[in-house]
Amino acid sequence: MEQPRLIMAESSILNNAARILKLVQAGTPADQALRESLTQHRHFTAPAERRGISRAVFTHYRWWRWLDENDSAQKQLAAALELQRRFDTNPASFKPEALAAKAVPDWLKDEMDALPAAWLGQLQREPALWIRAKAGTGAALAKRLGQCMAAPQSPDALHYTGITDLYRTPEFQAGEFEIQDLASQLVGLAAGPKPGETWWDACAGEGGKTMHLSDLMRNKGLLWASDRSLRRLGKLKARAARAQVFNFRAAQWEGGTRLPTKTKFDGILVDAPCTGIGTWQRNPHARWTTAPKDVHELAAVQAQLLDHVAGSLKPGGRLIYAVCTLTRAETTAVAAAFTVAHPGLEPVSAQTLWPHELNANGMFIATWRRKS
Ligand SMILES: C[S@@+](CC[C@H](N)C(=O)[O-])C[C@H]1O[C@@H](n2cnc3c(N)ncnc32)[C@H](O)[C@@H]1O
Repeated sequence: MEQPRLIMAESSILNNAARILKLVQAGTPADQALRESLTQHRHFTAPAERRGISRAVFTHYRWWRWLDENDSAQKQLAAALELQRRFDTNPASFKPEALAAKAVPDWLKDEMDALPAAWLGQLQREPALWIRAKAGTGAALAKRLGQCMAAPQSPDALHYTGITDLYRTPEFQAGEFEIQDLASQLVGLAAGPKPGETWWDACAGEGGKTMHLSDLMRNKGLLWASDRSLRRLGKLKARAARAQVFNFRAAQWEGGTRLPTKTKFDGILVDAPCTGIGTWQRNPHARWTTAPKDVHELAAVQAQLLDHVAGSLKPGGRLIYAVCTLTRAETTAVAAAFTVAHPGLEPVSAQTLWPHELNANGMFIATWRRKS
């Protein structure tokens, strides 16, 4: 009896995944199409099947350039899953030149200083799931959840390898942890705000990093959280309530010269909008929808955001610039131009976090300090 049931589940996964590919072909980004479709059909599909559908869709875009577009969607999905199986068991059977030619779009080599072979290999693996425990509670949480391994960089950053739906655990409901990629956690740790300080998370979005900054501040001091999107700020407020984060003030900021407050800050985080190339392992569809013009348009936005917040630092205050991307224009070039244009701020550090070194997203983080 096991065998036919298994085959039925597999064909249902492929049929559902094929339906989602149609939505993607009609213009919906794959992550959005999955989110919407799986929410709509959640009463008809078991959690394991939903995981299988997501996996099949993402695997399809991870191996997209290896597939034959004349095949049916189901046949392409099955071929992609087979390529994934082969890569996971024998990565050496894929030549580095093939990965360089097919895993990323052709224009990328002109926008990055290098395409490390180890990074291209990492792009073809399934991404790791990271959680962030409240400060100082990583070891205890890991024991309770099981199947967790702490990152060398932080005992509160846990790589989770289990299959439980973490959103349904009592620990999550009680606000004891967040799902947050390791690279994002390292941004919060690089900022390192202290209890009682005054910080501004200028591109706070749905508040992933705001929650972390508040936790590091032990809920003491003041944290401004701004974004151009009121919808995202609404989500931030709901998350903050669950995580019992109270020391923040949310305000809309369009990114222009009209700032949300005249306050001077001990620290400002600009987690800027970017092409997100550092997230291409997690969201492989974006490899095929991002264009070089996005790189240059976003680099201009990033430079403007930094310019506009720079005057809001106290003497000695620190500015942290973070982008989850790896192009030269959005990372080192933005940082170098900002340093030249702002002699009142001294550069403190700049680092690129690579996915193959972290088993997480890629990220660029630069820090300056306002001279006293
Ligand atoms: C990388 S996301 C922020 C993610 C967030 N910090 C987190 O950790 O969850 C960048 C954010 O910048 C916002 N944004 C985009 N353009 C902006 C602009 N011109 N001014 C202010 N915010 C902007 C977007 O709405 C988005 O939420």
